[in-house]
Amino acid sequence: MNSASLLRRLAAIAVAVLTSTAIAAEDASPREHLSLDANWKFHLGDDWPNALRLDKAGSSGGPAAEKFSDQAWRSINLPHDWAIELPFDRASDTSHGYKPVGPGFTKNNVGWYRRTFELSPEDSGKRIWLTFDGVFRDTTVWVNGWLVKRHEGGYYPFREDITDVVKFGGKNVIAVKVDASKFEGWFYEGAGIYRHVWLDKTAPVAIAPEGVFVYSQFSNNVPQDLNELHLQTRLRNDLTNAVFLSVRYDVFGPGGALPDNKGWSDKQKLTIPASSELDISHVLPMMKQLRSFELWTPESPKLYKLITTVEVDGKVVDRKEIEFGIRTFAFDKDKGFLLNGQPYELKGTCNHQDMAGVGAALPDALQYFRVAKLKEFGCNAYRTSHNPPTPELLDACDHLGMIVMDESRLLGSDEENLRKWKDQILRDRNHASVGIWSVANEEFSVQSSPQGGNVAKTMQDFVKALDPTRPVTYAAPQGDTFDGINGVIEVRGWNYHVGKNANQYGKDVDSYHAKHPDQPNVGTEQGSTVSTRGIYENDKKRGYVSAYDDNAPSWANTAEEWYGVFAARPWLSGGFVWTGFDYRGEPTPYSWPCINSHFGILDTCGFPKDNFYYYQSWWTTNIVLHLLPHWNWPGKEGQEIRVDALSNCEEVELFLNGTSLGRQTMKRNSKLTWQVKYAPGILSAQGYNGGKLVASQKVETTGDAVVVQLKPNRSIINADGEDVSVVTVSATDVKGRAVPVAQNLIHFELSGPGKILGVGNGDPSSHEPDTFVPQAPVRSIPVNDWRWHLAELPTKHGDRIHEYATNFDDSSWNMIKPKTDGDTGDMVLKDWQSAVFRAHVQLTEADLASLGVQIRFGGIDDEGWIFVNDQRVGESHDWQDQPCFDIRKVLHPGDNIIAVGVRNNDGAGGLNPDVNVELVGQPVESPWSRSLFNGLAQVIVQSTKDVGEIKLTAKSDGLTSATAKIQTVVSPGRPSVP
Ligand code: GAL
Repeated sequence: MNSASLLRRLAAIAVAVLTSTAIAAEDASPREHLSLDANWKFHLGDDWPNALRLDKAGSSGGPAAEKFSDQAWRSINLPHDWAIELPFDRASDTSHGYKPVGPGFTKNNVGWYRRTFELSPEDSGKRIWLTFDGVFRDTTVWVNGWLVKRHEGGYYPFREDITDVVKFGGKNVIAVKVDASKFEGWFYEGAGIYRHVWLDKTAPVAIAPEGVFVYSQFSNNVPQDLNELHLQTRLRNDLTNAVFLSVRYDVFGPGGALPDNKGWSDKQKLTIPASSELDISHVLPMMKQLRSFELWTPESPKLYKLITTVEVDGKVVDRKEIEFGIRTFAFDKDKGFLLNGQPYELKGTCNHQDMAGVGAALPDALQYFRVAKLKEFGCNAYRTSHNPPTPELLDACDHLGMIVMDESRLLGSDEENLRKWKDQILRDRNHASVGIWSVANEEFSVQSSPQGGNVAKTMQDFVKALDPTRPVTYAAPQGDTFDGINGVIEVRGWNYHVGKNANQYGKDVDSYHAKHPDQPNVGTEQGSTVSTRGIYENDKKRGYVSAYDDNAPSWANTAEEWYGVFAARPWLSGGFVWTGFDYRGEPTPYSWPCINSHFGILDTCGFPKDNFYYYQSWWTTNIVLHLLPHWNWPGKEGQEIRVDALSNCEEVELFLNGTSLGRQTMKRNSKLTWQVKYAPGILSAQGYNGGKLVASQKVETTGDAVVVQLKPNRSIINADGEDVSVVTVSATDVKGRAVPVAQNLIHFELSGPGKILGVGNGDPSSHEPDTFVPQAPVRSIPVNDWRWHLAELPTKHGDRIHEYATNFDDSSWNMIKPKTDGDTGDMVLKDWQSAVFRAHVQLTEADLASLGVQIRFGGIDDEGWIFVNDQRVGESHDWQDQPCFDIRKVLHPGDNIIAVGVRNNDGAGGLNPDVNVELVGQPVESPWSRSLFNGLAQVIVQSTKDVGEIKLTAKSDGLTSATAKIQTVVSPGRPSVP
């Protein structure tokens, strides 16, 4: 359809006055987008290495099989990262934070997840989709025993239409094997299903996955005058007949309605052929409908909403809501980055995705928490280094206001990489916050080659085809180099290369800019300043770096160095500091005992380091005055201590115990320093602008810690089983002053409708656990004295024969030799023989009252059909498997009879007599604790679905305890599968 006919059609359609409620009141859409996060079972360990079978459909074994018993497994909710739960191990990878996962740590590399869900008979006829937002790392997914997906890669989403293999009106089983034995990065990456999982139900005629794209376009890319709203929809027809349908678009302004209280409504009618997908597009000239659109900016993140409704025969078959922003992004070779046509300095940070207490598995509320923390020091841009982000991070950036540089994981124009790149772009391109695409980071081996250039160009062209609205960059670690990627990329990215001393500052960027004046630039990665919160001298042994803005590795710079160069050159567009938050791994400049990075402006908990105030001074318009260090230096009386004032005041005067130590004038983008002879008491400062006192600050010598303090960031959270409150733990002295050097060990107890999700303290060398995992006790009862007899097994495998029956007399049968350690017992069967094996197990009422009862076989060679008390409980088809079945339902107190039909194929075969009935008890909670690190620790508290009051109590030897109360309130929560 050409745009002229579209516009004619548009003109013919009356613009209706609509509100969101009017839409909601109309007939409901069959689309359901349901969270599958709750109620998974988890097992760590590669106990079923051969579960995956590729010879026959539905033949996979172990937990992949539908009937497998997972009752002894741990119950967990997603998102989940098992790497964070493991103890630190010096022998494991430094750059991944010394967690024993990855190459060489076979024991911890494989995790299994299982979950059941029901589909009602009414769902029959719908399409059922399973979506994983991200799993670290290689994933195999089975549904009802069917292998449905194999996905490689820890950061890209993947999805499967599972309609054919699900049971409507019955129970369905998802089994997921996650293999984290390969790294993708050089930083902590987590392990497991660390992002959300979704079940979507749609009508057979519906909007395709990621099938809506909406963007605004303006002449000259400046939001004024001529403008259009482009709507693209991909429709899908899974029926075998063509369908006549209509697509309606309703657009709402920020706050639910457009400023003039009108929504746009518009309709297209068309036919979609049988079994096909159809792309349609539509253009709305916005200006006509909307005179005063509200632009999205980080300072005022106004969001619009597009509701796309598909109708067939007047009945709604699908409806999808998408939030979007009206704004433009561009780079100018002279003016730098332009937001809405105006120069806008990118005050960015690069970030990895992990946090204290939770590793890579962040509940959504923590994404909001982190983005809000970054904004506190004036950060307005976020680079998702070095991988596609989770969508909820982008939601937080959309809503709180943060421009995102959305980065791929790997440079590559092979089919697989382009497919992943495409998935990333299609998923993220509606987000108001996404402003720049980055094709890759520091691809040292290939970046300067012509081939590197070709590949980057292909990825860049790919962006342009899928998203005409955003610029593309590459995070280049080179200096004045134009070869390869830099020569083809739209915006030259600068990782470092600002110079290490005054006569080098800016040399590389200036000479490059002079040679390539038409190429815009951006500081993709700068800083890498290292510092530890609350530490004021380097301490290699303990793994701490001073928090004065003094330390950076050879390739990197202090905050003042890099920012000085960038602030003086607006054409560089500003830059992204490495990093906003500390992260696990990369403990530069140290190694063990250090387990996390020191690059953050904030530590792993989000507690500010001193450099926070440097950036806040020069990145915000707040009046800032901050003094460092703390003033608790017993034993240093009379010695000189360097005192820095981080401030944007024109002048700052420093006092010790009321005596002036001089007033100094602040140079822009710098800081002030005094040498002060230490005496305990009050170090204070006053800040002046235009000669007027505008700010005061003091740092006091405190006494010892005597009281624990708890401060939740939110005292009311949603009772949805997902929301969190982040509680700051500190300690005060008798005068109520926070003790900046307190290191007390604090114990936590929680009561009420919540749980502790994790703890942290930002100490880069702490080996205390972030999580205390409840352990389910398992008691094994060996099943001994197996008797056997050769027998014909039924050709219809699994049918009963009289040898399986409880009352069968096996007293004349042979015994098999019990297993001795290390062997597989007596393999009594020869090629192609089959037999029945029988044994008894005595169980008490108390045994049967266990949380779970299962039978675990050491091995059945080659195939087996298992009966307990005349009931068939499962089968096994892999001689290397240790099959395990839930048998509680078929047991009774007293004598229970187990019969196994075994068919041997070639070689020796039989039943490994290492068989156990396992009684699984209630998981036992471990007590939670964490030390303060330089005065602070953090507890992340998560709600359950119950409404009430959570009480978190913190106790420490010799200190007065504290209790924080967090109220959980009714919340619909997100629609989810029970
Ligand atoms: C960069 C790299 C980052 C991080 C940083 C540390 O070169 O892109 O991922 O390793 O160095 O300074």
